[in-house]
Amino acid sequence: MQDKILEAKNIIEQASSLSVLTGAGISSESGIPTFRGEEGLWKNYSPQELASPEAFRRDPSLVWEWYDWRRKIIHGATPNAGHTALSRLEEEKDRFTLITQNIDGLHQKAGNRNIIEIHGSIWELRCTNCSYTIKNYEVPLDPLPPVCDRCDAIMRPGTVWFGEIIPMSVIDKTILAIEESEVMLIVGTSGVVEPAASMGLMAKQSEKKVIEINLDQTPNSSIYDVSIQAKSGEVLPLFYRIDEIYN
Ligand code: OAD
Repeated sequence: MQDKILEAKNIIEQASSLSVLTGAGISSESGIPTFRGEEGLWKNYSPQELASPEAFRRDPSLVWEWYDWRRKIIHGATPNAGHTALSRLEEEKDRFTLITQNIDGLHQKAGNRNIIEIHGSIWELRCTNCSYTIKNYEVPLDPLPPVCDRCDAIMRPGTVWFGEIIPMSVIDKTILAIEESEVMLIVGTSGVVEPAASMGLMAKQSEKKVIEINLDQTPNSSIYDVSIQAKSGEVLPLFYRIDEIYN
């Protein structure tokens, strides 16, 4: 393990450009349940059963109840050492893009600036009728489900659901960020939900170095240059140059 960490540290230190892909695992040390972990179920529903247009059409109140519960947990959470390390790395590199599947906003709270939220944000509400979109940090939400200020229709979470397409402009920015980086770091994602699941492969095909940090092995662990099975909050802080930041 120590050898792998040193190898990864070496690769990261030598790169002037870095793209990072994060998933729910990076926020687990902040107390936010992952999707496929033991605490991923809410009232016996899996995320796949609730995060879809069909589920929302069937029972918007149930889906909103789930989101309201998650908003409460996220509202009380603070960035952990893994998030902080990524914001230090952004300061250190000439080019840095953080691509996240997370909707919790903890990377922003930690100080990262160049962030692509490919699954949107839990703090955004979008009208199901007129598409009016607002930021909303109210916890708990009242009324629930929330209603559009402009047309009184029901609002939905501003997140991307299963069966929905990530906007092309977002995908384009993501591909460009990977293409323009020497190294890609993949942190805390099970690697089973597309398109994020294929981003590491894409980077490898473009001859980038790819480093993975995840508690468990993932389907693509064997094709990455370095795959470290450990907590991101313990490993990521080893990757930035403490001397350069504090001197
Ligand atoms: P998952 O819950 O599928 O996977 C989280 C991964 O993080 C697992 O492989 C864990 O082993 C790992 N992990 C947990 N704690 C960790 C820690 N402290 N350090 C490092 N790794 C840790 O979450 P995602 O891969 O983010 O999509 O899920 C992808 C998408 O599926 C989500 O964005 C969401 C979900 O359903 C939508 O809602 C559309």
